[in-house]
Amino acid sequence: MFSKFRSTSIIKRKLESALVNHEGIRYLSSKEVIDRENKFAAHNYHPLPVALAKGQGVFVWDVEGKRYYDYLSGYSANNYGHCHPKIVETLQKQAQVLHHTSRAFYSDVFGEYASFVTKLFGYDKVMPMNTGVEADDTACKISRKWGYKVKKIPKDQAKMIFAVDNFWGRSLAAVSASTDPLSFENYGPFMPGFSCVPYNDLQALEKALQDPLVCGFMVEPIQGEAGVVVPSEGYLNGVRTLCTKYNVLWSADEIQTGLGRTGKRLAVDYEDVKPDILVLGKALGGGVYPVSACLANDPIMLVVEPGTHGSTFGGNPLGSKVAIAALEILEEENLANNAFELGEIFRTELRKKLNKNIVIEVRGRGLLNAIVINKNHIEAWDICLKLKENGLIAKHTHDNIIRFAPPLVITKDQLKESADIIVRTINGIETN
Ligand SMILES: Cc1ncc(COP(=O)(O)O)c(C=O)c1O
Repeated sequence: MFSKFRSTSIIKRKLESALVNHEGIRYLSSKEVIDRENKFAAHNYHPLPVALAKGQGVFVWDVEGKRYYDYLSGYSANNYGHCHPKIVETLQKQAQVLHHTSRAFYSDVFGEYASFVTKLFGYDKVMPMNTGVEADDTACKISRKWGYKVKKIPKDQAKMIFAVDNFWGRSLAAVSASTDPLSFENYGPFMPGFSCVPYNDLQALEKALQDPLVCGFMVEPIQGEAGVVVPSEGYLNGVRTLCTKYNVLWSADEIQTGLGRTGKRLAVDYEDVKPDILVLGKALGGGVYPVSACLANDPIMLVVEPGTHGSTFGGNPLGSKVAIAALEILEEENLANNAFELGEIFRTELRKKLNKNIVIEVRGRGLLNAIVINKNHIEAWDICLKLKENGLIAKHTHDNIIRFAPPLVITKDQLKESADIIVRTINGIETN
């Protein structure tokens, strides 16, 4: 993983620098890491200038050995913290036995995972994919196919509805659904039959669903990338009712909100509602391997026949074992409850203590939270730089919102210490 400076004597180098890895090879400096990445990697991200070399639990260390609280958790994939022993052990064990077969054959592991995940979430079938965007794309495909085969929508006329400010990835289909110019500009032409209604607006949704050509509505129960936008109570219930009323499939994109992140196993559990298609990703792969999934009951999932959809790696034994381990940890360690309880403390602390001239709003559920910054004083990016200096890394979403999403294994003491870092950093900013 680390680039190596080879020289004649490793021992000599060890004496020259305390920053050596277990093989006695010098880590690059942060600057060297950053310069190399900028030179050889596409510039499609704007990373915080921190070069990480190690992670354990809620902490990461940079190449100079400085420790940080990880308040991004790999965009919510690391719900179980870095290097959780059960996940690492599962990965290592399965990698030595059988890692990939493709679903051209049966494996002794995929069925175990399929039975586990469907029972846990209460669906008949799982469609295994890898990344989040693939699973969301799959949900759109299933909805369209169901639209033609079951709802009897005329050929090639099916429509999918999304919510304004949705985010479900970077593929052409995903950016076709996006309302963010940063995502879609210069990537057209776009997917036909996709349109958006305002989020958290049941009236607008009802109007859209009245169109008999609509096959599906896909929505996040809390909009993560949009800046942790929590809908009003009753919205999810309303979505369920309207989709049933107009015979439209509801896909809940729980790729970011699912698996304990918002303080329940699923964010839809807050309103005790069940989507027709449940879409999971990110933390399903334990933070070590891309695993995503669509879950649905037979009358929906079985519209997809052999040969009409698939993925080379989807359902492979390595990912399947890791996903079982991840889901077991979620239950064994009561992570949703921890997120619920600590999330309440976190928001209370920040609301009580943060300078309100700088932070206009603190919002979120469980350990998916965000602060909205008053841009008259400072940009979110500059606050992220200051937080980094003080030992906590987080990332802005849009230029005035910072998301706070630590691993769900965080303890109360760690949460309080990290909340103190946030308060100290922000309240130390001059506002005149
Ligand atoms: C709600 C939601 N859906 C889908 C995705 C896309 O997931 P991936 O980046 O794994 O394709 C994301 C990524 O942030 C997301 O937040």
